[in-house]
Amino acid sequence: MRYGYFDDEHREYVITQPDTPLPWINYLGCEAYFGLISNTAGGYSFYRDARLRRITRYRYNNVPLDYGGRYIYVRDNDTEAFWSPSWQPTRCPVEDYACHHGLGYTTIRSTYEGIEAQTRYFVPLGEDLEIWQLTLTNRRQGKADLSIFSAIEFCLWDAEDDAANFQRNFNTGEVEVEDGVMYHKTGYRERRDHFAFFACSEELAGFDTQRDVFLGPYRGWECPAAVERGCSFNSVAVGWAPMGSHHLEVALQPGETREIIFVLGYHENPPDQKFDPLGSQRINKQTVHPIIDRYLEVPEVEAAFDALHRFWTNLLNTLQIEVQDVHTSRMVNIWNPYQCVVAFNLSRSASLFESGMGRGIGFRDSNQDLLGCVHMLPRRGRERILELAATQLASGGAYHQFQPLTRRGNDKIGTGFNDDPLWLILSTAAYLNETGDWGILDEPAVYENAPGTEKPLYDHLQRSFRYTLDRLGPHGLPLIGRADWNDCLNLNTFSATPDESFQSARTKDGKVAESVFIAGLFVLAARELAAIAQWRDLNEAAQECLEAAERMEAAVHEHGWDGEWFLRAYDDSGGKVGSRENEEGRIFIEPQGMCVLAGLGLADGRAEKALASVGGLLTTPHGIMLHHPPYTRYYLHLGEISSYPPGYKENAGIFCHTNPWIMIAEAMLGHGDLAHDYYSRINPSVREAISDVHRCEPYVYAQMIAGRDATTPGEAKNSWLTGTAAWNYVAITQWILGIWPTHAGLRIAPIIPSLWSGFKARRVFRGVTYEISVERAGKGNLVSLKVDGQPIEGDVVPLPSTGQCEVVVEATIT
Ligand code: BGC
Ligand code: NOJ
Repeated sequence: MRYGYFDDEHREYVITQPDTPLPWINYLGCEAYFGLISNTAGGYSFYRDARLRRITRYRYNNVPLDYGGRYIYVRDNDTEAFWSPSWQPTRCPVEDYACHHGLGYTTIRSTYEGIEAQTRYFVPLGEDLEIWQLTLTNRRQGKADLSIFSAIEFCLWDAEDDAANFQRNFNTGEVEVEDGVMYHKTGYRERRDHFAFFACSEELAGFDTQRDVFLGPYRGWECPAAVERGCSFNSVAVGWAPMGSHHLEVALQPGETREIIFVLGYHENPPDQKFDPLGSQRINKQTVHPIIDRYLEVPEVEAAFDALHRFWTNLLNTLQIEVQDVHTSRMVNIWNPYQCVVAFNLSRSASLFESGMGRGIGFRDSNQDLLGCVHMLPRRGRERILELAATQLASGGAYHQFQPLTRRGNDKIGTGFNDDPLWLILSTAAYLNETGDWGILDEPAVYENAPGTEKPLYDHLQRSFRYTLDRLGPHGLPLIGRADWNDCLNLNTFSATPDESFQSARTKDGKVAESVFIAGLFVLAARELAAIAQWRDLNEAAQECLEAAERMEAAVHEHGWDGEWFLRAYDDSGGKVGSRENEEGRIFIEPQGMCVLAGLGLADGRAEKALASVGGLLTTPHGIMLHHPPYTRYYLHLGEISSYPPGYKENAGIFCHTNPWIMIAEAMLGHGDLAHDYYSRINPSVREAISDVHRCEPYVYAQMIAGRDATTPGEAKNSWLTGTAAWNYVAITQWILGIWPTHAGLRIAPIIPSLWSGFKARRVFRGVTYEISVERAGKGNLVSLKVDGQPIEGDVVPLPSTGQCEVVVEATIT
């Protein structure tokens, strides 16, 4: 069952039924001001940091679902009926409801009692504000006498404190109302230099800033007292719960349309210019007035929307394809790169499943997110790599997370996730392949946020590499530390009390438990580092990396192979994890994917065997499960992985992040059909047809789809912010479609399904546009290339001489 449809031409997903199985959200903003918006206008906004600078309030896990957002009420002053054009919160039976989620904007439209209302929400580029552009049209025979109310609830900035510290927070709220603009200034009297503002283009009939006055006692958002009676209370909040609501009266002749703009924003004043007049407690509004005035004008708003549209078109134009499979094409051309950028921006901080308070920017997460968007955002990629490097420890280890506002490593979660440092090598390699900007390796970055410890990025990469070598276990395999990629495989924690974290409550010294996954990752990273060293003519360093990779490969061969698949790990007592000797958790997906990706077992048939085992034991119609069989009870020596009921999350769920590793591995073996089959099983667009089972948005990947052993197999959770986006993008674009940036030029080596007759692509790489056409002339994967009409050797299109901005590539597969 579907709840809407893809409009590929306009790059939108159009939801036609408001009561989707879960709120289906979109993101506003892509620089500093961000918001989540659901298909019924639920959600919230924040500035840079979803915890520390929360602008509007949202209650997670609320009932009814998704309650609280960017609301507009329309009231018919003659009949006294009122409704929400976005369906929530009044849930009146609106007609012609449609929510268009597009790239960086959302438009929600409906008609009720002959009044059509459409609101377009977006954040203009370069601004710390969001615009709600409301268009009202009277479709009735007669005149309509309407009241419009806006409503948002301000958060008292620190979202965590806001949800807990009521003894203080019910007393601190402060606002100013001036010329119809509501200014939220809680904390401004003391240490804050920032405030929020909420403005409207029309003259007001009234306003409210105290939530409980606007709503009335014991009422919710579905029936605010002010809306019901058709008149605001002009409340000015001191303490309790500051909110913003404009009331305007609009009379519309039959057929008449009116456009109304609301602007909600964030602003900072220089500390010495906070107040006006000086010495008073009033906000100095001189700095913000020009911004507010500008965005209350329709032409400015239209121009800002066009600029946003161009921005996204430009980003996506870096790679556009034409393939016969519509699900592949719309994901590659639109939704997958879009999700990659959102995940890169927000890491795992703020979604409907991430409250914005829990996790800052993850070290391994960000490095992987970068793989999916470095071709679109190379400058931001560069900044992020250096930012991450600056949180690295002198030992080469890494802070697992950092807080976006402070950019400092997070002491609470700490360090010791032994895969972390290696991802920095992979992201830097991807950045170099894409840009050829070798200068980044010489950029200084501190260690452990400590000034004076600056070393070139290249030094950071080497320490990442050595970090693994300095921490090898009894079998010569990498020690796992607190956890590797699988945060829930906690082999050193032995947590027996519920009041501590599975990851950071360490009770063992960690000298025994080893990870075959990190071994694979190490080989991959070491080879990338060798290639980097080679390009810099550091031949000895390159040699050292290659030899270390070989030694690691030998260790995996000897101690990391279980007969039919790669072992997952050794636990703290030297016992095997992910082995046929185990009763539960006999085979894991991660080492099969990562080891083959690193080239292990390609030459001797073990890769084939491992992947056949994945196919036989882990594959379901909904994707490939993390392991099998699931853990049916809690195992002290394994940790969080066995805390989940079977089939969910890391306990044998379909953890989508890992699936592309298998797609890539299959592509490496030349299995184009299987690679694309796996791709399609978790492709959200394919799954649109079973939206009632999948339940999450059909336009973005979710972190997890419940596995075969779950009570709800096929049900997705944790949509949007997941490394699944980046890795699927890499798998489909670089491996299946085979368009791959390298130092020497663009590599074209497709491993496409046998039934595809070919495809076309346009890729912008280092300022040159490559027009690529691929034609299948035989059943295999052998590629021959013609560049600007001339046949070339090999599969890498050399960089053209300067001045040439277009290259035509014809690839034939036989
Ligand atoms: C989740 C993991 C996540 C970890 C770290 C766990 O509860 O299952 O997916 O990586 O927390 O925050
Ligand atoms: C989600 C985390 O963000 C990621 O870092 C981790 O690798 C996966 N969960 C697997 O546990």
